[in-house]
Amino acid sequence: MIKKAVLPVAGLGTRFLPATKASPKEMLPVVDKPLIQYAVEEAINAGIEEFIFITGKHKRAIEDHFDKAYELEERLKLAGKFNLIKKINSFDHLNIAFIRQKEPKGLGDAILHAKPFVQEEAFVVILSDDLIDPEYPALKDMIKIYENKRFSVIALEEVPWEEVSRYGIVSIRMVNGDCVVEDLVEKPDRSKAMSNLAIVGRYILTPSIFKYLENLTPGKGGEIQLTDALKMLLKEEPIYGYILKGKRYDAGEKLGYLKTIIEFALKDPEVSSDLLNFLKERVSTL
Ligand code: UTP
Repeated sequence: MIKKAVLPVAGLGTRFLPATKASPKEMLPVVDKPLIQYAVEEAINAGIEEFIFITGKHKRAIEDHFDKAYELEERLKLAGKFNLIKKINSFDHLNIAFIRQKEPKGLGDAILHAKPFVQEEAFVVILSDDLIDPEYPALKDMIKIYENKRFSVIALEEVPWEEVSRYGIVSIRMVNGDCVVEDLVEKPDRSKAMSNLAIVGRYILTPSIFKYLENLTPGKGGEIQLTDALKMLLKEEPIYGYILKGKRYDAGEKLGYLKTIIEFALKDPEVSSDLLNFLKERVSTL
C-alpha cells in the first residue's frame, strides 16, 4: 500500500513575480484555499497518511498553514464562529515532515531530498500547481495501477503541440489495455517531440528512482530533471502511464491560474451565480 506523498514546494515561482518574491507560489489561493491544500486533500482522499514537503527559502507560510493555529482558534471560539474553526483545523492530525532543499536545483533534486524518509517504499509525488478536478481522482486510479503492476506510474495528458516544449513528453504503446511508456524526453522542441502526450504533476515512483537521481547531471534549463531519471529507470523496469480522465488546471502560470480561479469559483455555491452574472455583464460590454 502506498502511504507516503512527496510534495516539492521549493521552486522559485518566477512566473508569478513579484507576488512570489517573499511568499510561496503554492500558497496562492484558488477561491478560499491555497493550491497546496487542494494537493493535500487529493492525497488524503487517495489514502495517503504521511506527507513529506520539500521546502526552500520563503516557504514558512506553508508550514504555518498546516500547523495548529491556537490563537486564531481561541478568537474564533470567543466569537462563536465554530464553522470557521472547522475550516482551519482539519489538518491538525496530519503526519508531515519538512525537508529543506537549500538551492532550487530542479524537481529531480527536490525529490532526491525525500530519500531518507521514503526509504524502500513506493511513493506519490504531487506538484500542487497542477490542479486536478476533484471529481476525477487521478491519484486513486494511479495507486490502483501501482497495486496491480508494482512499477512506477506517471500521469499523462495531451497538450496542444505548440506547448510540448514546456513539458516532459512521452511515447507510449498500449499492451492488453495497459498504457506502457516507451520513451521520455524533457521539454523537446516541437519538431523533435515524439508525441503531444505530456507528463503532468502526479507520479507514483518506485524507490529505484533514487539511484538515478543521485547520479544525474543538470539537464534542460540547468536543472536536475526527474524526466531524465525516469528515462534511465525505464531501462531497468517498466513505467506505466495513466491518461487523465478529468480536467487539469495549470495554475503554475498566470493565464492558467486565472482560468483555474474562474472554474473553481463557478463551482462554488457561495459565489457562482453572482460571478457568472458579473462575467456575462463584463463580456457584454467588450
Ligand atoms: P515549476 O518549475 O513548475 O515551479 O516546478 P517553479 O520553478 O517554482 O516555477 P517557475 O517556473 O519559476 O515559475 C514544479 C514544482 O516543483 C517544485 C516547485 O515548487 C513546484 O511545486 N520545485 C521545482 C522544487 O521543489 N524544487 C526545485 O528545485 C524546482
